[in-house]
Parts: sequence; structure tokens; C-alpha cells
Amino acid sequence: MMLDPARKLMAPSARSDVPPFMVMDVMAAAARIEAAGGKVIHMEVGQPAVGAPSPAIAAVQAVLGKSALGYTETLGIPSLRARIARHYAETHRVPVSADRVIVTTGSSAGFILAFLAMFEPGDRVAIANPGYPPYRHILTALGCEPVLIETGAANRFAITGESLRAAHRKKPLAGVLVASPANPTGTMMTPDALAALIRVADDEGIRFISDEIYHGLDYAVPVETAARLSENAVVINSFSKYFCMTGWRIGWMVVPQALVRPIDRLHGNLAISVPTLSQIAAEAAFEGRAELDAIKHGYEDNRKILIEGLPKAGLSKFLPVDGAFYLYADVSEFSDDSFDFAKRLLEQAHVAATPGVDFDPIDGRHFVRFSYAGSTADMREAVERIGAWLHKR
Ligand SMILES: Cc1ncc(COP(=O)(O)O)c(C=O)c1O
Repeated sequence: MMLDPARKLMAPSARSDVPPFMVMDVMAAAARIEAAGGKVIHMEVGQPAVGAPSPAIAAVQAVLGKSALGYTETLGIPSLRARIARHYAETHRVPVSADRVIVTTGSSAGFILAFLAMFEPGDRVAIANPGYPPYRHILTALGCEPVLIETGAANRFAITGESLRAAHRKKPLAGVLVASPANPTGTMMTPDALAALIRVADDEGIRFISDEIYHGLDYAVPVETAARLSENAVVINSFSKYFCMTGWRIGWMVVPQALVRPIDRLHGNLAISVPTLSQIAAEAAFEGRAELDAIKHGYEDNRKILIEGLPKAGLSKFLPVDGAFYLYADVSEFSDDSFDFAKRLLEQAHVAATPGVDFDPIDGRHFVRFSYAGSTADMREAVERIGAWLHKR
């Protein structure tokens, strides 16, 4: 069909036609209830309720107004890259050279840079279903094809070596991306499962990306970094979650040596560098670990309240609550439409949660994601409200 010239000038590209994040609709509905005087318990947003640790704030206060805060090196301030490299030695006892560390504008920019540097248009990249929606949408926008691999309880809702190999045999894959702990499931891969998957990927020539944004927030399964398991793996991480710095938009990647220069060139053209103030804050944030660990202990208390309280409230089917700050509940005994379930839970009990359809186009209508990154008092109140609401139905 021919468009008239004026309409053609305004027509967006087909690649921009990615779905919105439905959680935004839940947040807007919650805001309307609050504007009318209601008190909503927010379990829909996947972000810490508190801000950056105090050493990060102090470092920013020390430079604000005293420094020009110009561009930095494209790959990041050298002392921050070195500090991130040291983090691998301290936390995982794995040596990582600072040359392989790249500072990014949140892990979100890390995905764009990784996909651009690793894949050609048309390449097929495997991701777990359910999974974090932007993986699919960024790949699509860049002309790659996301390939959803179904996961299940037997493998803690993660892609396995066998499922990866089977998908690759059907039609070749160029890459695979996994997250552990994962969003929305909150489940983790065991170190052995991650190692086995990386072995298959390396054997088959499938490039491996590990989204480690929820590292530091593990409760039930020991955490492992892909940086230890393969020098070919691309690791993507962020200061958003454990470090409580979502709005600072800062993260990092650890990449094979051969990708450093290509990403340097791409990033230099796309963004020049990452906001300087955020880089200064991030480096200092490593000194705030005592505060951050205390926040993590709060999540552990919240997790316990939900694991013990929700079954008593009537919601007893949920996935293993291993890490991050998510509990993924199966609500199919109450509704065949989790969007409607979440809508009514919000309107009638004033508890905001995210319907699974955002994360799983296949089976998401049976699931709701609860974030327990809020206060412990809110979690107790949420369990009570959910119990009373399910009782009344
Ligand atoms: C699994 C996962 N990866 C990446 C991100 C993006 O985070 P950021 O860009 O703030 O680092 C999120 C945000 O919620 C997430 O849940």
C-alpha cells in the first residue's frame, strides 16, 4: 500500500514496533489509586526502595561544583574499571583483567553493545521463556531473531545444555543469553548447570551472554559467574540492583579481549561515554558493602515472610524463590487471565503486582510476579491483604 508523502515522512520504522512494558500500565493504575487517597503496596516494580549507599553520595558531593565533569574515556574511568576487575578477584576469586571491563549506561546499554558487537542481522539468539522482555525486544529492534526456549521446574526454569543443543540442531543459533538469578522467576542455575550450559555453547560455537545483574542477591543457591567458566563468555552486570542505583544508569560488561576494541568503537559513536558523575558514584559504591548487605538481609526477611505467609493466605503455588527479589506465583487456580487477576488485586486489595504476560507470551497468563524489594512492614501487610482478598472472592 502506498502512503501519501506526508504520512510516509512520519511513519515509524517497522523495527521500532516493539511492545511496551505492561508493568507501566500497572504503575499508572496504582498512581491513580494513590491520587485518590488509597495506600498501595508496590510489589510491581523491580527496583530497590532505597537509594545509593552513602560512600557513593559522599563521592558525588565531593566533586559537584568543583569539577567540570567532562566526558570520560569511552570504556570508562580507568580506576572504576580496575575496581570492577578487583571485585571479581574479591567476590569470585577469579582474575579478570581491567582491560576486559567496559563501563556501560546500565546493563540495558550492555545488551545493545553486546548484540551489535556479536551478531549480524538475522542471527538467531536463544533466551529463556519466561524471561526479561527487553531481551526479545532489543534483539528484534536490531534485526536479530529471539528464539524462546521453554523452561520448567525440573531445571529451575533455566535453559539446559540439552535444550540448547536441540534448538541449535533444529535451526542454528548464533548466541544464547541467560540470567541467574533470573527475572521474573527469581530462580537460579546451580554452578554445575551454568558450567554444563557454557560447555555446550562453546562446543557448538554458540556465543554466550550471561546477565548477572542480580548477583549479590542470592539466597538459596551459590552464585557463579560466567567469567570464571569461559573467556569467550560476555558478562553483563549493573549497579542497579544489589548496589541500589537504578536511576544512576550505570553498569558494566566483561568481554573477551577480541570484543574490547569493537565495543569501544561502537560505544564511542553511540554515546561517547557514560555519565561521569555516575561513574564516580559507582566506584565509591564498592565501599558501601556493609550498608548494601544490610539491605540484602531485609530482602531475605521479606522472602521468608512471603514463603511462609502466601501459602497460608491461599497462594501456595510458586517457583523456587532462589534470588533477586522476585516471587513468581501460579494463579491459574483463581484465573485464566493473570492480567485481570493483577488488575483486581490492585483495585480491590491495593496490592500492585505484575502479570506474567509481560515475561512469557506462552504461559504468562497463569502467573503473577511479586517483587519483595519493599519494606518488611509492607510485605506483612501484603500477605494479610492478599489473604483477606482471596477469602472474599
Ligand atoms: C534481568 C534484567 N536484566 C537487565 C535489567 C536492566 O537493568 P539496568 O539497565 O538498570 O541495569 C533488568 C531490569 O529490571 C533486569 O531485570
